[in-house]
Amino acid sequence: MSTHHHGDQPESIDPATNPREFWEEFYGGGKRPWSGKPNAILVDEASGVDASGRSALDLGCGSGADAIWLAQQGWAVTAVDIAGAALAVGREHAREAGVPDGAIDWRRCDLSTDFPAGSWDLISVSYLHSKVALERTQILRKAVAAVKPGGSLVVVGHWAMPDWRSPDDPPLFPSADEVLADLGVGGSAEWTVVSTGEREVAMSDPDGNPSSRTDTVVHVRRA
Ligand SMILES: C[S@@+](CC[C@H](N)C(=O)[O-])C[C@H]1O[C@@H](n2cnc3c(N)ncnc32)[C@H](O)[C@@H]1O
Repeated sequence: MSTHHHGDQPESIDPATNPREFWEEFYGGGKRPWSGKPNAILVDEASGVDASGRSALDLGCGSGADAIWLAQQGWAVTAVDIAGAALAVGREHAREAGVPDGAIDWRRCDLSTDFPAGSWDLISVSYLHSKVALERTQILRKAVAAVKPGGSLVVVGHWAMPDWRSPDDPPLFPSADEVLADLGVGGSAEWTVVSTGEREVAMSDPDGNPSSRTDTVVHVRRA
């Protein structure tokens, strides 16, 4: 009963809604989502990687908690999102966190049609999912091409949502194996799979009780 459309996004996607308007409204509509916490799976994967003097790109950075954490580890960060409202939240929190001006280059970019020029030592793609149009597989392929020799690509995503979620919510997402297939690096001598699989992530249910969901991680490194 998989409703997952391989490699892309759930079939419940609404093709009529303009993605920029959707995400500007999401971040600008008074909610200004901000967890303040970097994604635990990214922290696990990137903690062991030497950051000094190296560059990182966060694709679909949202309100910027990962970008701020990466800057605090010493990465020179480029943080990209379709929503200017998300970048505004990130900038504000980076200032509050004492991240030096210029340590994060916040850039508005619709990754479905455009991709930042250049190459990076670490590219992070966390929960780049959408209920509206998003060229996810194409973006992942461009990310692969933009990793510097010796650099890493870390893709973290939802997989199974917790039991208490409504079946009307976006349902199934690609498994780690499917994400790896989407990257198109299988069988290449140039790429090593550092980690791949499913991870339990702690979260609260709507009543505040401890719960968890299952996410996926794919971490590949270029020779
Ligand atoms: C589910 S949120 C994840 C945000 C953040 N990475 C995190 O882990 O909290 C998905 C993000 O992708 C961004 N996004 C969606 N479509 C995009 C596109 N076409 N180009 C750039 N960013 C996009 C959204 O604005 C949103 O911030």
